[in-house]
Amino acid sequence: MPSPRILSVRSLWAAARRIPVLLAVLGLLALSLPGAAQAQSSVRPPESATTSEVPLGPDFRGGVLGNRSDGEIWHDIRLGAEGTATIPDPNAATLIQSQGEDWRLLRLQWVIPYGGQVLLAVLGILAVFFVVRGRIKIKGGRSGRVIPRFSLVERVVHWFTAILFVLLGVSGLIILFGRPLLIPVIGADAFALLASASMQGHNLFGPLFILSIVALFVTFVRGNGYRWVDLKWAFKGGGLLGGHASSGRYNFGEKSWFWWATLCGIALSVSGILMLFPNHLPVFAEQVDPSVPPERALLQIATVVHAVAALAFIAFGMGHIYLGTIGMEGALEGMTRGTVDENWAKEHHDLWYEDHLAAASTDSVRAEVKAAAGDV
Ligand code: HEM
Repeated sequence: MPSPRILSVRSLWAAARRIPVLLAVLGLLALSLPGAAQAQSSVRPPESATTSEVPLGPDFRGGVLGNRSDGEIWHDIRLGAEGTATIPDPNAATLIQSQGEDWRLLRLQWVIPYGGQVLLAVLGILAVFFVVRGRIKIKGGRSGRVIPRFSLVERVVHWFTAILFVLLGVSGLIILFGRPLLIPVIGADAFALLASASMQGHNLFGPLFILSIVALFVTFVRGNGYRWVDLKWAFKGGGLLGGHASSGRYNFGEKSWFWWATLCGIALSVSGILMLFPNHLPVFAEQVDPSVPPERALLQIATVVHAVAALAFIAFGMGHIYLGTIGMEGALEGMTRGTVDENWAKEHHDLWYEDHLAAASTDSVRAEVKAAAGDV
């Protein structure tokens, strides 16, 4: 049996022989790491950040060791100094992009807390309104006679948009608020799964929503232009402050919702496309902040615009959904069956109801004339 001394010398020798192999493997590994390109890169500070006139790189005065301290070099890097990268991503040459921190703080300290408070405030106002005012009933009761309000095409476009809105809204809120709100409740692993599913769903439904917003605009733009009567309706608080508030096919609140949805839809679509394809679109962000690589600046602006527009859209949308469902008797059937009760129409859209009666009587007169002509 070999002595323990001989064994340890042998094993040390065997280990020593493997060191070059180990070093070569580690070297290869290091080169394949994402940060390797930056680590190899020569650092060039942006003009604003340069603290000395001496250029960086191996050929400058001071030889290989350089004449600048580590502190100075890291200072430049911290201010966004750009080096050269050997991988195709041009952003890899910038080790630290300070504006990224501004963006992170804007999102963390403003968008998330204030956005969350706005949504909670709207929910609270709707809850208090429901408790105080209750459901807005049809005062004259149901007449039992219905009149057509929305065609099949209008209803299909509406529900297509509404379903996508809910899917995008829920997945978007998970992406925005999930980290602080859901991880403590469901744990990090379950949240990782949920967040990744939300992101995939969001990327899939987003482009469809752009189509639906265009369709919604084309389908409903007629009748959504503001008129004097809408201003009067708004001053009367839609009838909530007492007295009757006249309205055409859509009232001031509905028209505002239509234009709000259009504006938020445009902001969400443009910022969403920029986020999906940041490297394939012409970029003007450089003009906003020339020190930031354009693709990143664009992404930072787009994510903030997207979140703010989404929160504004959802906040108004909650009011619309409330009134369309539990808030008002007789409204939902217009969007499900396509017809509304005559008394509902008289109470909420009297001018439209009168137009309808006039058109109906003209139609019946025409039908009578046609029938009479046929008899002759
Ligand atoms: C998800 C739940 C939703 C419900 C329950 C709902 C319900 C309703 C109801 C009942 C109406 C008919 C109101 C009336 O007859 O005057 C209506 C109209 C309308 N809704 Fe919705 N809706 C929802 C989501 C949406 C979304 C997400 C959008 C837009 C993105 C939208 C846009 C519209 C438009 C444009 C009208 C026509 C009135 C107008 O032009 O203002 N709805 N909705």
